[in-house]
Amino acid sequence: MQRAKVKKKPTQQTVPLSSCPSETKAISNTKFWHFAIIAALMISLIVTTVTIVPLNWRQFGTRHNAIFETNDFTLAHLQNCAQSDAVLEQPPEQRPQEVLAYTTPWNRQGFAVAETYAHKLTFLSPVWYQLRAPQLQRNDYDGRGLELTGGHEFNNTWLRNVRNKSKNRVRIVPRVIWEVPAFVLPTQVPIITQLLAEEARDRGFDGYTLEFPVDEHGIFAELTRSLKNALSEAIPLLSSPTLIVAIPAFQMPTRPQTPPEYHVTPRLLLTLAPHVSRFSLMTYDYAQTPSGAPISPLPWVMRTVEMLSNREGEQGKADARILRGKMLLGLPWYGYAGGQAITGHEFQKNVLDRAEHVRRVWWDEDTQEHVFVYSASHGEEAGEEVRATYPTPAFFKRRFALSRELGLAGVAVWEAGQGLVCFPMLW
Ligand SMILES: *[C@@H]1O[C@H](CO)[C@@H](O)[C@H](O)[C@H]1NC(C)=O
Ligand SMILES: *[C@@H]1O[C@H](CO)[C@@H](O)[C@H](O)[C@H]1NC(C)=O
Repeated sequence: MQRAKVKKKPTQQTVPLSSCPSETKAISNTKFWHFAIIAALMISLIVTTVTIVPLNWRQFGTRHNAIFETNDFTLAHLQNCAQSDAVLEQPPEQRPQEVLAYTTPWNRQGFAVAETYAHKLTFLSPVWYQLRAPQLQRNDYDGRGLELTGGHEFNNTWLRNVRNKSKNRVRIVPRVIWEVPAFVLPTQVPIITQLLAEEARDRGFDGYTLEFPVDEHGIFAELTRSLKNALSEAIPLLSSPTLIVAIPAFQMPTRPQTPPEYHVTPRLLLTLAPHVSRFSLMTYDYAQTPSGAPISPLPWVMRTVEMLSNREGEQGKADARILRGKMLLGLPWYGYAGGQAITGHEFQKNVLDRAEHVRRVWWDEDTQEHVFVYSASHGEEAGEEVRATYPTPAFFKRRFALSRELGLAGVAVWEAGQGLVCFPMLW
């Protein structure tokens, strides 16, 4: 608008000059100058088109790619990322091979995100189901009386849309969480198997993602074996059911050693591997510090994978390859601010939309995470300094590369409803 005004002014001034007929010489002079000016304008227009426009395009590309970098990263890059999904995709060799996305009923926009980007997902896990034991408190509790709850969340329209968008390629593997405060009992294996196989048959799932405690006595391994067979029988059209097992990451903010209570080992995972398609590593929520940060430091993620896959002996290398080839690296789409978990929406409200209150942003080389320091907006702490960590495109780029370097199957995103608008465009 402003530029148009500036251009008009000189035109208006030249009009009276050229229309003045008082002197012929002056007129022809004016004509010559008009011609010269028009010619000069045309030449400069051509020069501009040839040189400056491509330059601008290059700058445009650079500006977008800069969101993957750490040195020239600015808050503005992330603001763009929060407002637009127009991010240049990474070249295929820098994207993760497989992507699992979780979606939860408590961040419902994740279902819309999953629907829009279903064609970019390998596995989709709506977080719908729980296994509960309401009779657990009774003295005669014999391990039966298990209930599968959460089925009311099932949405067939959504499921159909997702399948359609992905051309039937995405595998639907709802998450089932074991909410009984004990390990699975041998008597419960056939009950769980039946409940889950029937539900999958009725709803048309491709399998499940199981979030269960993995015991050392082989009962959970028996459950995966039994469930895989039951799913194949219940759904004859399903060529091979998909079972994903969520594996907790161990915490070690201050200790170099694995805590003794963490019992998941490569040996244990190898007993599951024949029946399990993928292990979804929950490599987030690292810090037990008041700030909640860092959330998923890269060296710790790396050590978690090594700890869960490295084995000694002749078979060691082959075993590690098998295990890593089934692992999905857990990536948070949420962050922490002042010790509270925050979604992308909250991060945008408190940090990106209040850029004038952001005091510092830096890339932490040790953790490979971006850190944001800003002044709080409201409440008792108004004006006080808050420290936050939230994933950025650079954060994902490092972890995509790590998953390839370590020979993993891909990544698992927790969860689709908590990210910034551009996140699904990063792969
Ligand atoms: C079911 O999914 C459709 C398609 O995504 C959506 O429009 C609708 O709101 C969903 N229904 C419920 C109850 O969430
Ligand atoms: C997806 O939906 C469109 C329009 O409703 C339909 O034409 C197409 O056949 C569907 N594709 C698949 C793979 O189901």
